[in-house]
Amino acid sequence: MKFQVITLFPQMIEATISEGVIGQARNKSLVQIDCINPREFAIDNHKTVDDRPFGGGDGMVMMAEPLQKALREAIEQSSKDPWIVYLTPQGAPLDQKKVKELAQNENLVLVCGRYGGIDQRVLNQFIDEEISLGDYVLSGGELAASVVIDSVSRQLPGVLGHQDSANSDSFSEKLQGLLEAPSFTRPREWMGEAAPEVLLSGNHSKIEKWKSQVSWLVTLLKRPDLALDKKLSRKEYLELQKFWQGLGPSEKEVLGLLALTDADLELLKNDDLSL
Ligand code: ADE
Repeated sequence: MKFQVITLFPQMIEATISEGVIGQARNKSLVQIDCINPREFAIDNHKTVDDRPFGGGDGMVMMAEPLQKALREAIEQSSKDPWIVYLTPQGAPLDQKKVKELAQNENLVLVCGRYGGIDQRVLNQFIDEEISLGDYVLSGGELAASVVIDSVSRQLPGVLGHQDSANSDSFSEKLQGLLEAPSFTRPREWMGEAAPEVLLSGNHSKIEKWKSQVSWLVTLLKRPDLALDKKLSRKEYLELQKFWQGLGPSEKEVLGLLALTDADLELLKNDDLSL
């Protein structure tokens, strides 16, 4: 997959994509990431790319012309019609569903704004979609573009070492929108807390079942909105209730579930569950 980032600060992108999983994916040519700087297309000696907003207001606005030229270059360098995204707090919130959708593209162009935004006419002419990281304002789109590149690249075949890793991420299909169960590694006991015994049992089906129950409980505690959005069958609810009641205080502690209450669990009972 090819990403092209339209940015006045290519070093900000470089700094975040040259290490770790994404750096390796790049070295293996699983992803290609190029930056195109609108400043290179400025026509005056000062390489001006921004100007004062018509009608007044704070901040400078990125001018249409250098951006247009940078975008045309990106389109020319794409093998297929690229999907062009503008990173802005006004966009649709980025979530795992959107990440998966974006990963279907062969060519993705990410446009980073700076200053007081970019001339609306560029958006009208070129942008397919606006995406936001969340309801807060960053100094520019670069951090958001890096987040998109990282989260989308993880979905591509071969990028993650273990075939299954993206499948067991929080929000993955396997977890059906739930959060991942906590992880543990050696030593077995640390600062008086013992890793859950079942994880050392070697019984994979038992471990999977356990992880799925813990996922429900963790999600209910940390993101009740996600858990309550889903439906448990009567059988599943009763199983989860039994699992919860069977957890001892030290297990609850090591799983970070001490704050979860019986009343929280009751919330998972939905109207169709005549118990
Ligand atoms: N640019 C500035 N703030 C942003 C945000 N919250 N998400 C995406 N791009 C942005």
